[in-house]
Amino acid sequence: MTDEIKVPKGLANVVVDRTSIATTGASGNLLYRGYRAVDLADRKSFEEVAYLIVYGNLPSGDELVAFRARLNENMKLDERTIKVMDILKEKDIMRNLRSIVSLIPYRNGDINETFIQMEAKLPLISAYSAHAAYGKPMKNMEGEFFAEKFFSMIADPHKKKYWKSLEKLMILYMEHEFNASTFALRVAASTLTDPVSAVTAALATLKGPLHGGANSEVLSYLSGIRDEKDAAKFVEDKLSKKEKIMGFGHRVYKKKDPRAQYVKEELRRIAPDDPKFRAAEYVENYMFEKKGIPANVDLFAAVLMDFLGIDEVFNLPVFACSRIFGWNAHYSEQVSDNKLIRPAAEYSGPEERDL
Ligand code: SDX
Repeated sequence: MTDEIKVPKGLANVVVDRTSIATTGASGNLLYRGYRAVDLADRKSFEEVAYLIVYGNLPSGDELVAFRARLNENMKLDERTIKVMDILKEKDIMRNLRSIVSLIPYRNGDINETFIQMEAKLPLISAYSAHAAYGKPMKNMEGEFFAEKFFSMIADPHKKKYWKSLEKLMILYMEHEFNASTFALRVAASTLTDPVSAVTAALATLKGPLHGGANSEVLSYLSGIRDEKDAAKFVEDKLSKKEKIMGFGHRVYKKKDPRAQYVKEELRRIAPDDPKFRAAEYVENYMFEKKGIPANVDLFAAVLMDFLGIDEVFNLPVFACSRIFGWNAHYSEQVSDNKLIRPAAEYSGPEERDL
């Protein structure tokens, strides 16, 4: 075909569609519907930002009350779901999320109603699957707010006074334009498949270590780093083996990930002497000064969740329980002005030949 356009591998820097939900590119700030995400993390609740992402504006008082109520009334698991998790005892919680989300019924034609079912239940599915797989006691869901309830099920109750730090992190994880899992969701949505199937595609994509899966590997290397010397040795060792260091680098942020910087300052405020926080700073300084590769959100997110007593099996589920609101907005945006996403390919196989 003559009208084919060749683009860089991985679609790097290729604009494939328009979106009004968020942008990472403008002023180096991540904007959610025009507001800086870091300002929203500072001053708004998780539910207010989720409403903004899904509906396009911050909610009025009444809209917020109604939205919170819809989430709360759906934050429960039915017997069938619990039975399936008790049978599966799946230790990989992301696999479990992908399997169990598929059980959520799709109410034909009502996108937001189906998404609210998934949004409300994902934190419970995460918490309960750890209980079913690892035998951990199922902590009671307590509190009034979405992030507070999630905190009560997965974090250290003695750190309860820091639950808003988890809320801020979840606000910053909520949406990120055409990242891999969101784009996978949009490809699925472009076929007009149902929202539950599209979210399953997104969860499967988020699981990859080059995308969401990074944050659970960060802690393992930080625990072995006590000073700059250790940091330098660790980095040089990894790079000499051509291995990627989790929590660093980004397709869009080449200088700094504003989310990483925000979470770093939140850690400096609540846990300045945490050894893993100091280790993360040592590695961050070396990676940027010597290699020009910035930390991404996952580096300090892993340290924060560790400080809050959140087991690392929940690191990626926390990301998913937040990003589903971004996926909600992208699913609606895709189907509202849809064209099937089906790129071309340059053929490099054998010439045509007779059998
Ligand atoms: C997230 O896209 C999003 O928005 C994602 C995300 C979101 O909110 O949805 O922001 C969340 O996924 C954050 C990223 C989490 N992933 C990791 O931390 C995994 C480690 N990071 C790398 O795999 C990498 O940085 C990527 C995949 C994130 C980005 O890779 P790119 O844009 O394809 O860049 P690249 O791999 O071509 O790297 C450019 C150069 C390479 O060197 P050369 O081969 O050209 O010599 O930088 C090097 C890379 O080797 N490099 C790294 C590195 N990241 C880049 N080297 C070591 N460790 C790293 N982490």
